[in-house]
Amino acid sequence: MTTQNSTITTLREQLAFRLREALLRAGLSEDVVEISPATTSKFGDYQSNTAMVLAKRLGANPRTIAERIVASLNVADLSAPPEIAGAGFLNFRFSQEFLTRRISCIFDDDRMGVPFACHRKRIIIDFSCPNVAKPMHVGHIRSTILGDALARIARFLGHEVITDNHIGDWGTQFGKVIYGWKHFLDQDRLAREPVEELVRLYRHTHRLEEENPAIAAQARKELVLLQQGDPENLRIWKQSVELSWKEFEKIYRTLEIHFDQCLGESFYNEALRPLVERLLETKVAQPSEGAVCIFFPETPELTPCIVRKTDGGFLYATTDLATIEYRVKTWNPDAIWYVTGAPQALHFRQIFAAARRLGIQAELVHIAFGSILGEDRKMMKTRSGENVALAELLNEAIERASKIIAEKNPTLPSEERQNLASAIGIGAVKYAELSQHRMTDYVFSWDKMLSFQGNTAPYLQNAYVRIRSLFRKSNAIPQETCAILLESPEERALALRLLQFGETVSAVLEEFRPNLLANYLFELANLFHGFYEKCPVLRAENAIRHSRLALCHLTARVLSQGLSLLGIRAPEKM
Ligand code: ARG
Repeated sequence: MTTQNSTITTLREQLAFRLREALLRAGLSEDVVEISPATTSKFGDYQSNTAMVLAKRLGANPRTIAERIVASLNVADLSAPPEIAGAGFLNFRFSQEFLTRRISCIFDDDRMGVPFACHRKRIIIDFSCPNVAKPMHVGHIRSTILGDALARIARFLGHEVITDNHIGDWGTQFGKVIYGWKHFLDQDRLAREPVEELVRLYRHTHRLEEENPAIAAQARKELVLLQQGDPENLRIWKQSVELSWKEFEKIYRTLEIHFDQCLGESFYNEALRPLVERLLETKVAQPSEGAVCIFFPETPELTPCIVRKTDGGFLYATTDLATIEYRVKTWNPDAIWYVTGAPQALHFRQIFAAARRLGIQAELVHIAFGSILGEDRKMMKTRSGENVALAELLNEAIERASKIIAEKNPTLPSEERQNLASAIGIGAVKYAELSQHRMTDYVFSWDKMLSFQGNTAPYLQNAYVRIRSLFRKSNAIPQETCAILLESPEERALALRLLQFGETVSAVLEEFRPNLLANYLFELANLFHGFYEKCPVLRAENAIRHSRLALCHLTARVLSQGLSLLGIRAPEKM
């Protein structure tokens, strides 16, 4: 019977616990407990450089400190005493008996050894946030995919997550859009491709403004009218928002991404004036040359944040402050995470500092990311030099996947092929994002991301499918309880990696790095292939066959759970 055994501690935590005990017993400081998986199996399973760090601090010989630690260490039930290697590394190698016992626990556990977070928080995740009357482009793709994966992982770890899509539906772009709408709207095109038509209106007005300052003044007037509640301009604005929303929703449906809240910038409109008044009254902000600013004298490198312009207009920062206040008042979160590109780092530092002045205590985090590059290593653009539209990109992913499937499996019914193409195509795009460190500028390469070899979604999906088909073909059913035997090095290596699922998932949220999980799954799939080549499963007999089937089954479960935490489907057949 499977259990929800949230009390299973990870391998790393167990060793850390023993090491801390030993340090205390040895009269050493226990604040430098360092445990990490060994870089190569030559050095055992885990290693620690604690002795070296401590020796440096004490001006002592690291090997002597290492010996003191080992003398106080009680790990007899987990491993042999660790070896002291090199300049004073402690190398741990788990005993067969311990690994065997642990892998059986994980096999029986619904959560496959992923512990719940010690402090369960309520977290608001602000991500995706495209702008109305502008196409959603590849720059938004990173936020959307990263934010969704972080939300899934945080939920799995037991946090309460509220996802909020703070769309840009109230910006200065509307002055240009409304001017364009009134002077050169193409109704037919608006019906056919609304977002493209809105963008054309915006761009066309922008071009005219550059030649003719009078037009710029008129567009600004349209914006002021909108802000003052002019019914005609409000109607145009509302229609633009609705049309854009329909397009965004299609994209989210394709991506299988859902938001709990979609409170765009316009939602906070009414709150801006009173907020600035309050900032002035409480002296959080000051009048400055006709504008209103928040100054940060305690952080000199932080430039002042303008919250009201000389013309009385409000800014992106004002809206974001009103948004923080609303979120805190409405949901009382422990943390708010913003998944937005690195160029906005200064903006977030400013509004976080301002929020502190307002007495807001929730943890505020800007989760930044780099850019996506075209294969020429420059910012990704279409041939005409424009941003690549996200909708087109996703369609292309699905089409390309569909072609690959048709080649590999021409007899597959078309409905199944369509379904599979979206799992593979969308999975590939998501995985290309999630397998990179988020700060890396990565090259968007169709051939690479859709390849069935290498660190890609199709490779992982294929590993899962191979295991599933093994069970289908043999009619074998994984036994609910069976002894797992780890006799060959390949079985042992696979089991050790399976046992690291828990600590890997937990580590993702330490620095908001889903790539740790992606790379874990890739290594797991590689170890599985190694195991499968060396260790016959169906041809093995009795206890060994059961044990190997159990390892296969657990690998499939971890692969599918891991992919699902990344927002990627694991199909049953391919
Ligand atoms: N709409 C903004 C953009 O496209 C991103 C908004 C991020 N979220 C926020 N609360 N500022 O750049």
